[in-house]
Amino acid sequence: MNDRLYIFDTTLRDGEQSPGASMTKEEKLRIARQLEKLGVDVIEAGFAAASPGDADAIRTIAESICESTVCSLARANERDIRAAGEAIKPAKSGRIHTFIATSPIHMEKKLRMQPDQVVEAAIKAVKLAREYTDNVEFSAEDAVRSDIDFLCRIFGEVIKAGAKTINVPDTVGYSIPALWGERMKQLIERVPNSDKVIWSTHCHNDLGMAVANSLAAVMAGARQVECTINGLGERAGNASLEEIVMAVRTRKDVFSCDSRIDTTQIVPASKLVSSITGYPVQPNKAIVGANAFAHESGIHQDGVIKHRETYEIMRAEDVGWKANRLTLGKLSGRNAFKTKLAELGIVMESEEALNAAFARFKELADKKREIFDEDLQALVSDEGYAAEHERFKLVSLKVCSETGEVPHARLVITDEGQEQPAQGDGSGPVDATFKALESVVNSGADLLLYSVNNITSGTDSQGEVTVRLAKDGRIVNGQGADTDIVVASAKAYLHALNKLHTKLERAHPQV
Ligand code: KIV
Ligand code: ZN
Repeated sequence: MNDRLYIFDTTLRDGEQSPGASMTKEEKLRIARQLEKLGVDVIEAGFAAASPGDADAIRTIAESICESTVCSLARANERDIRAAGEAIKPAKSGRIHTFIATSPIHMEKKLRMQPDQVVEAAIKAVKLAREYTDNVEFSAEDAVRSDIDFLCRIFGEVIKAGAKTINVPDTVGYSIPALWGERMKQLIERVPNSDKVIWSTHCHNDLGMAVANSLAAVMAGARQVECTINGLGERAGNASLEEIVMAVRTRKDVFSCDSRIDTTQIVPASKLVSSITGYPVQPNKAIVGANAFAHESGIHQDGVIKHRETYEIMRAEDVGWKANRLTLGKLSGRNAFKTKLAELGIVMESEEALNAAFARFKELADKKREIFDEDLQALVSDEGYAAEHERFKLVSLKVCSETGEVPHARLVITDEGQEQPAQGDGSGPVDATFKALESVVNSGADLLLYSVNNITSGTDSQGEVTVRLAKDGRIVNGQGADTDIVVASAKAYLHALNKLHTKLERAHPQV
């Protein structure tokens, strides 16, 4: 159908390629459930050949998701395609997305293959993928710097071999809208049987034009857009799902198509992805930034009060901003808690995990009278970290911070169950806490990022802290949440250390 725009979300694959954003199977599943609620057509759940753990996460998502197609990425080789095919097997609707680079620089320097060999590999890959599913997508990596005649040739061949979606990526974020639209138009006009496939675009944001380029491709006839929540992705990120969806929906006068996205699920999806990956959303980010619907200047406020549409082109509630809805309180029981988790798409692995989370909820409700959806998401994440990566755990923390005095932290952690006391001074309470932690763990890791965000509004809100550490070429993000931001900071630091201690052998699809 020409008026349907398919949304292909790659938060769990391209988004996960952002430094430190790697997610556990449970975290991926939580995001996949939210993407399903959002109504995305295709969830790219990962790259199965990266590791057995990645394949397992895709399989679990394929087993659990009914309303969206579940897809695995695969390079154009037999091993990758078989891994992808096996991983998506349980899906009600599964897709294999295979790709190979087509630009002279990638073919010569990365693949060390001749163009004829690249075409041959692409045809073979698509044919093999078709043995697993009818739903095969082919991408020409670095299409932006590829020769258009070569693209026409390879696309024509993979369509003959059975590809149903043809994706044109701007892998390095190099294009500009007029050129990208023109490229898509040329391809649709010149490739034989182009009307038998869905044309797709996949744009990176290195020059800040991923969304504009994607929309130009849609205007030229593309009917699938590959994008991520919050524009998460390698380097400057991918095209942002929320911006594409809202641009197309808001400018119906310009676009002759629309998606089936339930836009009221956009903000919850944004918050979930931000909280799980530790990538905060900038306040002035379109659609999902905290200021996106805030009117600061008196003139604007006056206009909005008199007539909303003077300055608002979208309604905050239509994208899922709502006045923080009270979710649960101190007196809520275990059943209400369980029901609310289910509503949020959170399934606890066991009764034991549910009991532990409920105990944490009661503790939190003692400190903070009103508990919102975001608090529950953070609480479940925190519980998950504590359960999964157990080497270091925070037992207690005392910090003295007084005007004119050097801040001092005294703490106890467990290392493989053994209690270890430590203390340290610092320029502030967080610095003192991190120094105390390092004095006992001696990780030698570099602190690349420290950020604090309040989960909801108000000074009794939980602070959500992200700590990014780097060691031996590995980058990890740790998160922690607590009403006390120094405690949240210590938890985040330990979470990152625990991740560093978890061995992870994974292949990167594009290296
Ligand atoms: O950016 C890119 O080219 C990709 C492909 C694997 C589709 O992510
Ligand atoms: Zn990409």
